[in-house]
Amino acid sequence: MSTKNTILSITMSLGCTLFSAQHTTVRTYNLDLKENPAPVTIQPTMYGIFFEDINFAADGGLYAELIKNRSFEFDEPFTGWKQPNTKTLSPNLDSGFLTIYTDHSKSNKNYARITVLNNKNYLLENEGFRGIGIHEGAKYDFSFDLENVSGNIAAVNARLVDESGKEIASVSTIIKQKGWQKYNTVLQTPRTVEKAKLQITFTGNGIVNMDMISLFPQDTWKNRKGGLRRDLVQKLDDLQPGFLRFPGGCIVEGRTLAERYQWKKTVGNVADREYLINKWSTGFPHRLTPDYGQSFGLGFFEYFQLSEDLGAEPVPILSCGMACQFNTAELVKMEDLDPYVQDALDLIEFANGDSGTTKWGKLRADMGHAKPFNLKLIGVGNEQWGPDYIERYKVFEKAIHAKYPGIKIISGSGPSPDGEFFEYGWKELKQLNAQIVDEHYYNSPDWFMRNAGRYDHYDRSGPKVFAGEYAAQSVGVVKPDNKNNWLTALSEAAFMTGLERNADVVHMTSYAPLFAHADGWQWTPDLIWFNNLKSYATPNYYVQKLFSNNKGTDLLKVENEGKVLSGQENLYATAVKDTKKNEIIIKIVNTDAQAKKININPINLKVGKKLNRIDLSAPALSSENNFNTESVMPKEETSLLKNGKITAEIPANSLVVLKLELI
Ligand code: AHR
Repeated sequence: MSTKNTILSITMSLGCTLFSAQHTTVRTYNLDLKENPAPVTIQPTMYGIFFEDINFAADGGLYAELIKNRSFEFDEPFTGWKQPNTKTLSPNLDSGFLTIYTDHSKSNKNYARITVLNNKNYLLENEGFRGIGIHEGAKYDFSFDLENVSGNIAAVNARLVDESGKEIASVSTIIKQKGWQKYNTVLQTPRTVEKAKLQITFTGNGIVNMDMISLFPQDTWKNRKGGLRRDLVQKLDDLQPGFLRFPGGCIVEGRTLAERYQWKKTVGNVADREYLINKWSTGFPHRLTPDYGQSFGLGFFEYFQLSEDLGAEPVPILSCGMACQFNTAELVKMEDLDPYVQDALDLIEFANGDSGTTKWGKLRADMGHAKPFNLKLIGVGNEQWGPDYIERYKVFEKAIHAKYPGIKIISGSGPSPDGEFFEYGWKELKQLNAQIVDEHYYNSPDWFMRNAGRYDHYDRSGPKVFAGEYAAQSVGVVKPDNKNNWLTALSEAAFMTGLERNADVVHMTSYAPLFAHADGWQWTPDLIWFNNLKSYATPNYYVQKLFSNNKGTDLLKVENEGKVLSGQENLYATAVKDTKKNEIIIKIVNTDAQAKKININPINLKVGKKLNRIDLSAPALSSENNFNTESVMPKEETSLLKNGKITAEIPANSLVVLKLELI
């Protein structure tokens, strides 16, 4: 579809009128707006968020820990750490050395043994996640576990240094006794530095064991100790998401079965959570990130808590016994599937079980949440395909519904929006009366515009749709040059009019992936980009926000000459009513290079005089936002209707949201 259509295109016949603006001719479309003959509720879950730990989204991102490999658990246990005063990582008898001890009886197995021979020279340094971002005037909790083994080490000294090695802040902790003990102090930073480092020195000589060396901002979301980065959660909160899908994505499946996401290893005491390499560390040869691990400081309890904070339904997705079919495609034999199914049942108990009488409900309560999380949805597998999936899905479905008939199960239709596996999956899942089917599409902007009518003819009696992962790719899937530009966002907006228009069949939707660290990403495009200090919202984010914040409660019908507007002459429209706010909301997307004019004719709907209008457009289709400027962001204005008429000019390449009070 061309977004460069010229004025000549208006000669196509569409029962509309023409009028002259100053320099151009703008075509007018008359849109009838009325109640849907069969009422359609917009599901509260219509627009949600997809979280996956890809692109440093968890460690190095949302999880606000600033020390990488804080407990030396990486396969290369020195990852993130340096002893800059020693010539090599091997023992250096001039200053001291670091060795790794392993206690196989523990889930957090490793700790560092530090031998200090010359306290003036020995220095241990952590680089953070591509640097440590610190803010002027902010306070940071510095903590570590230490066992004083021998010698006379009297203090551990921590200092933050900037890129040139200049000290920013420092603090000393007096070592009190022999056995393992947790030590906590606070560092206050007088200036902002994006890529600071933490340096640790010792007073005295001797041997200490250290573990869980941690630096956390005190300023976290809801000021929780060891919590989440406030600016990033704020951006999620601003979306008013209907659900939070976690923890992915392919990370659920794992590169191998052993590396699948196991929720039980992500709950309980943070220091006891078992480290795992991140699948995406080797995801793409062109973006290798060997320093990408999972501490699981952000684990399933925290995901549930975040869902609750956001007012979003929690949507956990679990391994169904199939490792990523793009990687090893390892399969659990059917006779060995039980533990996987049990994980699903136990997860429901963890979320909803009684805190006094159930094992997993009690763990939830011990972690600080006696009240159930009220889980209603669970996903079986992520992006699986073929008969192996269906066979395993059946077992999960039977077991989950036998014990928890009220839980809705999300099943998958594979990685493509069409083709043999997609068709096969849907056919089988329909026969099995599946409740919600997850569809994924990463495609060109052109595909998104052309497919705005994708759901217009879906079977209304079949499973509901979860458009669980989608994003327009400016170059191509997994191409590192993909951009979050206005063209991709606009095409998603056009497509989303079709999602909303089909809200009777489409119950859940989410853009993917959600986050990317500017220095640590593997996959682009992404909804929100961040570095160690700041974050910015992409044009795609603002499209999501406008749809989500204006989702309404009931679908209305908006038609041009009795037809839905879904790409005719590059115009798309959808409309809803919000019975809580008592308003109607019309969303119009114009992917044409020419402005259009619309007249809206409400039928049996009485509206007030005030028109609230939100515009989202950009200087060019190639426009992007960045850390310094968000040139693509919504602009809102309020006006009064002239002669009671609802008319609006829809600029070229724009999304316009019109809101009117219902009287
Ligand atoms: O969103 C990135 C990846 O794309 C997801 O992990 C996977 O489900 C899909 O292939």
